[in-house]
Amino acid sequence: MLFYLQKAARAGLGLLHRPLARAFGPIDNPLNHLGALIIFFCWIVLISGIWLLIFFRTSVAGAFESLEYLTYEQWYLGGIMRSLHRYASDAAIAALFVHIVKEFAFDTYRLKRWFSWVTGVPLVWLVFALGVTGYWLVWDELAQYVAITSAELLDRLPIFTDSMAGNFLTDSAMSDRFFTLMAFLHLVGLPIFLVFGIWLHVFRLSRPVINPPRRLMAGTLLCMLVLSFVFPAVSQNKANLAKATQSVDLDWFYLHVYPLVQISSPGFVWLLLVGISCLICFAPWLPPGRLAEAAVVDLANCNGCERCVDDCPFGAIQMQARTDGRKYDAEAVVDPGLCARCGICVGACPTATPFRSRGELIPGIDLPELTAAELRERIGTVAGSLSGNKRVLSFSCSGSSTAESLRKAGEAVVEVKCMGQLPPPFLDYVLSRDLADAVLLTGCSDGRCRYRFGTHWTEDRVTRKRDPRLRKRIDESRICRAWQDFPEYQGSVLRQLAALRSVLPEQSTDDEEASG
Ligand code: HEM
Ligand code: SF4
Ligand code: SF4
Repeated sequence: MLFYLQKAARAGLGLLHRPLARAFGPIDNPLNHLGALIIFFCWIVLISGIWLLIFFRTSVAGAFESLEYLTYEQWYLGGIMRSLHRYASDAAIAALFVHIVKEFAFDTYRLKRWFSWVTGVPLVWLVFALGVTGYWLVWDELAQYVAITSAELLDRLPIFTDSMAGNFLTDSAMSDRFFTLMAFLHLVGLPIFLVFGIWLHVFRLSRPVINPPRRLMAGTLLCMLVLSFVFPAVSQNKANLAKATQSVDLDWFYLHVYPLVQISSPGFVWLLLVGISCLICFAPWLPPGRLAEAAVVDLANCNGCERCVDDCPFGAIQMQARTDGRKYDAEAVVDPGLCARCGICVGACPTATPFRSRGELIPGIDLPELTAAELRERIGTVAGSLSGNKRVLSFSCSGSSTAESLRKAGEAVVEVKCMGQLPPPFLDYVLSRDLADAVLLTGCSDGRCRYRFGTHWTEDRVTRKRDPRLRKRIDESRICRAWQDFPEYQGSVLRQLAALRSVLPEQSTDDEEASG
């Protein structure tokens, strides 16, 4: 069931991926920067909110008029700020929804990676509470509807002794003090919790990406500015508690559950919301939940270089003082509770080199699920099936749709847990030992790597920007990188493969091996 839901979610994201990649380009595709985009939208909300606050009057009598002044008389700045405030809030909700779907679809929330997932749930509540209190402050008919329906919802909780809905029956009963409380929640209380919540959410991740690429920021801001000029945010009629609201234009991003309160009951809506939240919270532990062994350090081969610490995307490795009396200052220690079993540390370790005699390939750090020695053996077996003089050995992340389609096309594929697990010396090994004439590396597009930095680090290692670098003797043109893993892009991976073959010489040269 879960498998099919994830498959459907991946297919849905695939549909979004193509037009967004066309509009923003592969690097700046918003789908690859969702968490950071939500934070960027929060910045826009904050900055526009500060401008609104300068003119906003926190009283039942003054709130509506102060916003009318901003919308119509100061439309060129106040009106734009108001619209930006609204559109950035809506965009944050949209990005939040896709962020959740994406983490679910690519299974990056389970087992030991539960922390970001579970701490994300209160963030959803906070963002919605911010939206609801924001609409309340406008004090128009929509605010009246929101206030009364929210009061019905709150009345259902056993924490209030008096009926809150009673506060809204007449104009005089809506006190300025209560209105000021809402303003305080919207402007101070909830934002403080949100900032703390976001900090906690990314706390366990190493190098959390909190800023989207500049072009993406500029593009989304421009879209919102255009929207603000063309469809400025306006209020509805002024609230009048003496009169029941007939119909209001809802903001469906924030208020979609409100009509449900009328259709069903406040109790049912609470049950639904709390039920969904609990289900999401428990999702990381739902079956299938088998967890492989965490990465292990072999002290005899660890020289304390710290590269694994730098590259681990989950902050699961620490350095500590040497415990085995060897001449090095420090040794790596893995916290199994944080390890996501990606193997990226193995790809980073300078001792993970296949140029050793069989049986002795034990790097400083290794992944028991697929050790470096097993990987070397796997490479030997798969490469052994290649023939002809344009032999290409493909590497792919395990279980990816690319591995499947390459195999279907009759290609020889070696699967690794994450492309970041593949140490560059293994590529050197394949090419210099003439196990293949060229190599294809495929995996998730950057920014969408299931293990966060696998693609990024591989790209940097192969292009010699990051240690361990690919050795200079290797001709880079014999290594093709195709970072595409959505099913609809498989055609493009196969085309890249064909292009790679077309530039390979008819006769493979052994010169490099000789010089190596
Ligand atoms: C205000 C709302 C939120 C913000 C601003 C936010 C932001 C972020 C950021 C910046 C990251 C780090 C991205 C990276 O460096 O790879 C992240 C990761 C993550 N978020 Fe959120 N997030 C929010 C809500 C949520 C929610 C509601 C969920 C799910 C219920 C969620 C699930 C996750 C998970 C599972 C990761 C970790 C992914 C991994 O381990 O690779 N987030 N989020
Ligand atoms: S990268 Fe390898 S050698 Fe360096 S500290 Fe980590 S385990 Fe030790
Ligand atoms: S396997 Fe991945 S998460 Fe675990 S220690 Fe290595 S790099 Fe970190």
